Amino acid sequence: MSENIQRKIRSFVMRTSKMTPGQKRAIEDIFPQFALDEKQKFNVKDAFGNNNRVCVDIGFGNGESLVHIAQMQPDVNFVGMEVHTPGVGHLLLQIEKYGIKNIRIYQYDGTEVLKECFANNSIDAMHIYFPDPWHKKRHHKRRLIQDAFLEMLMPKLKDQARMHIATDWQQYAEHIQDVFSRFPQFINVESNNDFTDRPDWRPITKFERRGINLGHESYDLIYHLNKS
Ligand SMILES: C[S@@+](CC[C@H](N)C(=O)[O-])C[C@H]1O[C@@H](n2cnc3c(N)ncnc32)[C@H](O)[C@@H]1O
Repeated sequence: MSENIQRKIRSFVMRTSKMTPGQKRAIEDIFPQFALDEKQKFNVKDAFGNNNRVCVDIGFGNGESLVHIAQMQPDVNFVGMEVHTPGVGHLLLQIEKYGIKNIRIYQYDGTEVLKECFANNSIDAMHIYFPDPWHKKRHHKRRLIQDAFLEMLMPKLKDQARMHIATDWQQYAEHIQDVFSRFPQFINVESNNDFTDRPDWRPITKFERRGINLGHESYDLIYHLNKS
């Protein structure tokens, strides 16, 4: 186990952007129905009222992808983790608008929630879409995807769990390939640890569209965990 697993990965900055009145109302009125408590152990039956598969999305932003995917897969339980309050408010408004039943939310550092709340072998899939790339070299230690993160996460995942990551920052994409290459238990769906095509279930979000218009490419990586 690498030494820095003890050190917290500070992969986000707390931004103080203003909330719209709708987001504020959503946080006050709707959030309690969908919020999970980072001080308690996660229990799928208590959280969702069923034992369906569990997919975790860390850093869902405004929830655009999460809402889309949760609607397409109503028999999967989605646990979203995000620290940014307006993003949580935005997601709640979408949940309300579309009557979505299969999303629950931690407004907390996802790395801490995974470490403290999730039992071993409790997660079927992870989605990490456009994690902050932390461009500068001195900030690379803040990247979410790093050895210490995978070491912490691996026991929490079920055998054959799927990890799907997308980024539009080529150097981060290569860094992610590099990190996974040190964990042979994660089998890339492509040969040579290569990028894969964006699967149908991942929508192109507004954020991504903006990047594409600026000439950025997106890089998808999908791994399955082989625990045997
Ligand atoms: C660049 S945004 C991408 C948002 C979204 N996934 C998308 O595809 O549009 C990255 C998000 O991850 C969140 N984030 C970063 N580290 C996090 C962590 N440890 N726990 C929860 N959220 C985190 C940030 O607050 C930010 O909203």
